[in-house]
Parts: sequence; C-alpha cells; structure tokens
Amino acid sequence: MKNKILILDFGSQYTQLIARRVRELGVFSEIQPFGFSLDKIKEAPPAGIILSGGPASITAAGAPMVARELFKLRIPILGICYGMQLITHTLGGRVERSTRREYGKAELVITTASPLFKKVKPRSTVWMSHGDSVVATAPGYKIIARSGDGAIAAIENRKENIFAVQFHPEVVHSQEGKKILANFLFAITGTAKTWSMKNFVTNEIAQLREQCLNKRVVLGVSGGVDSTTLAVLLRKALGENVTSIFVNNGLLRLNEEKEVLDSLRRRLGLQVTYIDASRRFLKNLKGVTAPEMKRKIIGKTFIDIFYKGLPDFDFLVQGTLYPDVIESNPVQGPSQTIKTHHNRVKEVQKLEKQGRIIEPFKFLFKDEVREVARLLEIPGDIFNRHPFPGPGLAVRILGDITLKKLSILKAADDIFINELKNSGWYEKTWQAFTVLLPVHSVGIMGDERAYGQVIALRAVTSTDGMTANWAALPPDVLDAVANRIVRQIRQVNRVVYDITSKPPATIEWE
Ligand code: XMP
Repeated sequence: MKNKILILDFGSQYTQLIARRVRELGVFSEIQPFGFSLDKIKEAPPAGIILSGGPASITAAGAPMVARELFKLRIPILGICYGMQLITHTLGGRVERSTRREYGKAELVITTASPLFKKVKPRSTVWMSHGDSVVATAPGYKIIARSGDGAIAAIENRKENIFAVQFHPEVVHSQEGKKILANFLFAITGTAKTWSMKNFVTNEIAQLREQCLNKRVVLGVSGGVDSTTLAVLLRKALGENVTSIFVNNGLLRLNEEKEVLDSLRRRLGLQVTYIDASRRFLKNLKGVTAPEMKRKIIGKTFIDIFYKGLPDFDFLVQGTLYPDVIESNPVQGPSQTIKTHHNRVKEVQKLEKQGRIIEPFKFLFKDEVREVARLLEIPGDIFNRHPFPGPGLAVRILGDITLKKLSILKAADDIFINELKNSGWYEKTWQAFTVLLPVHSVGIMGDERAYGQVIALRAVTSTDGMTANWAALPPDVLDAVANRIVRQIRQVNRVVYDITSKPPATIEWE
C-alpha cells in the first residue's frame, strides 16, 4: 500500500511508539514480526519500511535477521538502533559489542547533509539505548552523524534509499526525533498524509454500512471507552439495527452497573439490553485462584451468556485494539501472551473462521479511540474514564473470589477513586485502583489487637498501558485515602502503595 509504513519488529520496547509517531504524522503504520514474509511485502509494497530496535546483539548466535533481499526491493528503509546494526552487519560492515551499554541522553552531531536531516538542528539531544555499535559502515554507506563522543550515530546509502540511526527518534527525549521521522516519511518515501481519525471514522462508517446492511449485529458493551465508542459508531453507521448487550459479571466497581446503564441509555441514547449474570459468574469462579484460569472462566461465561441470551445474529462486533492483535516477536516475549485476552477465546476464534467477527478498532491505539470518541461527540467524562479490564475486580482480588471480598474491594476502590477525583489526580493518572491482598496483618483497632486485611493502592501514569510509571501521588492524598479506608472498612487495617513501574511489574496484580 503506497501510503503505509511497515514496521518490522525486532522486539524493542519502543516498537509501538514508532507506529504511533508515524500515525501522528498522518501516515498509517503496521507492525509485523521481523520474520514477516518477503512475498507478502512484495505483494503489497509499503511506502517505506522501518526496522525497529531490539534487545538482541547482532553479534550473538541466533540474532534475529532478515533476508538480504529485503534491501534490494527498492523500498526506502530506515533502521533504528538494532535496525542500523542489522543493516550494517548484513551488508558487510562491522558491528562490535561494547563493553557497556549506552543508555540515556546523548548528543547528536550532524556531519553531512542528508534528506533525513532536512531542517534538523546540527546539534541536538537524542535518546540512546544500545550495547552494540557500528564501527565500520557497509560498502556504499556514508556516515552522516556522530554522537558527542565521536561514535557513529547515523548512516545513509542515498542511492538505495536506506538510512539508519543509532538513537531512538521515536522517543520524546530525542529533541529532533519527530522531524527526523517526518523527513523519512515525506522527504524520502514520498508518502502522503492520508491517515487521520476523521478519515478513519468516515471510512469505517461506509465500510460498516456495506458489510452489515440488513444484517443482525450484536455488540457487548461495558461502559468502557472502547465499547462505548464502538456502540456510538455503530449506531451512526447502522441506526437501530444493532443490539448492544451489557452483561453485569458481578465483578464491576461500586454501583458501576447503574452508572454505565445511565451513561449509555440516558446520556448517549443507545438501546441496551441488560443481563445481570453476576451470580453465574461468581458460581463459576468459586474456589478458583489461578489468574489465567479466572480469565478463561470469565471469557467463557461471557460468551455462553451471549449465545444464550441472543436472538440469531450475523456478526459479533468487538472493541479489540491494535496492541491486542499485534503478533509480537519471539525475541522479546510478547506481553500479550502473559494475559489470556478475553476477545481471543476459542468461541470467538470459531466465529472468526466463519467471518462473523468484526473489529473496527483492531488497528487503533487507545489514544486514537479517544480521538474517535471526541469526533463522535461522546462527553469527555465518558471517554476519559480510566481503562478497566474485562475480568474486572476478579484480577484485583488475589486468591479466590467471594461476595465478602468483593464488597471490601468495591468500598476501598470507591474511596480511592473519589479521593483522586476530589484532589484533581484522577485525570493525571492513566489508571488507578485498589487490590485486595490474600494476607492478614497485625494492627490495633481501638484498644484491641486486630488481624486485618491489606489493601494495596495502584496508580500509574502511562500513554498506552504498554509501559507505565507509578504515579507520585502527594502524601496528603495517600494519607486521606489510607485513613478513610481503614476507618470505613472494618476488615482492613493496613494500606500499602505499589511503587513499581511496568516493566518489570504489570499494571494489574494478576
Ligand atoms: P497489565 O496488567 O498487563 O495491563 O500491565 C495493561 C492494561 O491492560 C488491562 N488488562 C486487561 N484488560 N482483559 C482486559 O480487557 C484482561 O485480561 C486484562 N489484563 C490487563 C489493564 O487493566 C491495563 O489497563
């Protein structure tokens, strides 16, 4: 596709960021694993290819490689970090293992004019993260920039339209990074700006009308950003021909079912069928402690209820997002396999084979869905809600799930979220919640020794949930939350704050 950039993923933690940056610049980007078939690339040649960074050392046995032929397809290529080492190594240059990993900010000094550096300042700060370094370029390649200490920082082969940088232009710390990526897109590949959320909405509505006209369409809604936006988009495309179903799985936050129904029905005017299946979910989850098993049971129960409660339908529409479908790369160990995704259970795969699953957002990142929501005029307090996982509070109660534990967690979560909203911190965090730990600890309540439960608070900042930092909540906010929790919830006598980032921790505890 002439207006698409293909990103071959070598396992960098920044691969998705590259994709997002390219899209922010108005060009559609797609991520594929580094072993993506050359035939497929030839069938539908992209405007350009970006080779991502990655944790492997090109000098080590078994390092991820691409066929040499990739560099002969006459498609412009930009190698980033590992991508630059790969180009050099494959085409006859020399890459050496450094004794220490260079990590952090570095200076970029442009030494030769290049289309990649059009209007880029001669000296700027860039973000480096690499162990290996290019020490001799491959034949036909020229050094176009060095880092402050003289190391090779960028190379080009203008005849072949192949460029590479040792630093990460996709990371915000690289001051001129966006300009460099824009130069690759517009000065080198010559692609056009055709990707915008406005175009996406127009095209998607047209496509849904074509595919689903006079068909019976069902959709599960949860009140979350993705499914709400999808329901509004479907209504816009298909009118009232859509059955939106809201299943209460009993694992929602305090009063959430009422609030969600109110938002969907009254505020957005959607037609929603409400199924209260909380007892059935809790019965199926009885005694289950393993996180993956909880997810499987919840996914299966959800699908069973869909089938049972439904009239015949032609298509099931799901709010799957791009990070859920990227076929991640074996070098890194994809985060996707850590969690069994609700949208990918066996029953869904069966429908998929029959061509009955529609996932309009499967190429979108979360912030792009929020942009769609904004374009569809969904109120901000709905589309700015924190993400909430499909398995709900089940993955926030460590150990088995009981009604009693649920009521403790709901009360604690409600206190935490209210305090965050009151202090203006809800909008500043990407996600915040409480976790009920499966331990008891000693405390004093009144004059008596108590042996109570522990609540962990989790609040993170993030842009897409792929990586996250713990939020530095002010001590007085944490203090107010802890005080209210132990005062108002009899069973809890200790509150702790989770100060790990992702990675190495995940956002959820299970
Ligand atoms: P983790 O815990 O993997 O979470 O760092 C990243 C984001 O994904 C959400 N999450 C899930 N969402 N089903 C979902 O629909 C799940 O099984 C699931 N597990 C995690 C999590 O809340 C965070 O926003």
